[in-house]
Amino acid sequence: MSTGDKINGKFKGKDIISLDQFDPSDISILFKRAKIMREIGANAKPSDILKGNIVTLIFYEPSSRTFGSFSAAVKQLGGQTVEIQNPQQFSSVSKGENLEDTMRVFEAYCDAIVIRHPIAGTASNAAKIAKFVPILNAGDGNGEHPTQALLDLYTIYEKFKHLNNLTAVMAGDPFNSRTIHSLIRGLSLYKGNTVYLLSPKELRLSREDFTNFSQRGVKLIEIFSEKDMPKNADLWYWTRVQKERFKNEKAYDKVKDSFYLTTPLVKKYAGKNTILMDPLPRVGKIDMTVDDDPRALYLRSQIRNGMYIRMALIAEVLGK
Ligand code: NCD
Repeated sequence: MSTGDKINGKFKGKDIISLDQFDPSDISILFKRAKIMREIGANAKPSDILKGNIVTLIFYEPSSRTFGSFSAAVKQLGGQTVEIQNPQQFSSVSKGENLEDTMRVFEAYCDAIVIRHPIAGTASNAAKIAKFVPILNAGDGNGEHPTQALLDLYTIYEKFKHLNNLTAVMAGDPFNSRTIHSLIRGLSLYKGNTVYLLSPKELRLSREDFTNFSQRGVKLIEIFSEKDMPKNADLWYWTRVQKERFKNEKAYDKVKDSFYLTTPLVKKYAGKNTILMDPLPRVGKIDMTVDDDPRALYLRSQIRNGMYIRMALIAEVLGK
């Protein structure tokens, strides 16, 4: 399997490793397909698009939404899954089996492998190993989370009907958040987008990412206090400080509750069309009183869209 090839309108057989593989036209193909998938999902009508197909989900890191929605996506389309959560405990990985052997074994059983792993770059390595089936990156350490960004872009597109000239606030942990890394890559494919990155100084984007993303045309503005947030941004994207990426507890404790999304904050800085997003889980970051605000999409369309986008992506990658 090739690693991270550009999609160029053809998804079939491609590994999905990074948002860098996509152009706006590829994203449009997925959005159109996701709309059809929504009908399939809503109708509870059996679909046989993936009949006879098996997809392996192997998650070396915990997951609720990504795992659950990939699993449901395959089943919604009439396919089946081999599911291994925590292979470090429940597979031969616990006996010391390496990634090479693990990938070669599972590719013999299925038509695609969805992998989550704590080390950035592992999905790409898995794609180099697997010769017969595409690999889909469900989050690689603090690298990327392309399917999350695709569903985030779809959620934003549903609201605004375009992805240009948007102002976003991305809060929390830009240094470690793979969802932020992929979403900035996604927004940079369109014109005139500005991203305010709100974080403690310790958690700002790596200088390498900052330079790399800025060169793509997206305007990045780093802020370290809520007071510098723009009023009436189009979207807020609140992320968790990624505890599992910290080497020492003290360093985590220092920054863990840095930015808390509350109703007063929404009242002060959000506009009537600002959408409130979060890849979840929410850990010390959004007050539950915000949930009832109709602008809060994190427990609404952002969740459902995860399944529709993953249905669309798997069907496309399997050439169905
Ligand atoms: C995110 C992840 O795993 O990167 N969760 C998800 O997939 N929806 C965000 C997070 O864990 O904070």
